[in-house]
Amino acid sequence: MTAPRPLIAGNWKMNGLELALDEARAVAAAVDARPPAARVALCPPATLVHRMAEALGGACVEVGGQDCRAEASGAFTGDIAAEMLADAGATLVILGHSERRAGYGESDALVAAKAQAALRAGLEPIVCVGETLAEREAGRTLSVVAGQVRGSLPAELAGKAFAVAYEPVWAIGTGLTPSLMQIEEVHVAIRGELTGMFGAYGAGVPILYGGSVKPSNAVEILAIPDVGGALVGGASLKAADFLGIVEAA
Ligand code: 13P
Repeated sequence: MTAPRPLIAGNWKMNGLELALDEARAVAAAVDARPPAARVALCPPATLVHRMAEALGGACVEVGGQDCRAEASGAFTGDIAAEMLADAGATLVILGHSERRAGYGESDALVAAKAQAALRAGLEPIVCVGETLAEREAGRTLSVVAGQVRGSLPAELAGKAFAVAYEPVWAIGTGLTPSLMQIEEVHVAIRGELTGMFGAYGAGVPILYGGSVKPSNAVEILAIPDVGGALVGGASLKAADFLGIVEAA
């Protein structure tokens, strides 16, 4: 089985007004002019999903959401369904980001239900996992991450397009990154869980790394075995920085 193309996805989090679409257009122009080895995606706030998908229509850059509700519709004020993201032009959705697990108490079971919703809507889920600093210091990284993988990925993902993103909570937005060996150790453990759950199919599922990825560290991180791309926060907000990471893949 040939390895899938790496995926470099930008997570804009709660950043970006309409003017920020200029950055997305600049990314798309560069990617279209010189197609990179990687697939490239941008996940703007929900208010920009439709406008970004329209602005990039036909370009090689995919558009994703940052979360969805498990239900397809209903009385859930303020929430957004996977079907709505797909209707707005998204093809992917980030699920179980640590900022949602911590800020909204999202459990593995809820993340798994959201992943099923994504499949129902034809979206490719990027399911995030990662340990806190306290969990790492207690020597619990591998057991925490393995438990999140097992609990957050429903069996229905077998044979479907999806990715896992390893994002150590303490590396997000801090400028800190694990050592290359620490990243490799966790990715190998995640790969073991994926093959245990999905057999041979699990061997090809991309495992992205996220947490303070920047142009200056992207080459060495993306060269680690079993790192199949990156989920990029702060450095995805500026086209030049994001393109520096895309080109490293
Ligand atoms: P930073 O790249 O800003 O550390 O954020 C990582 C992240 O949370 C991506 O989802």
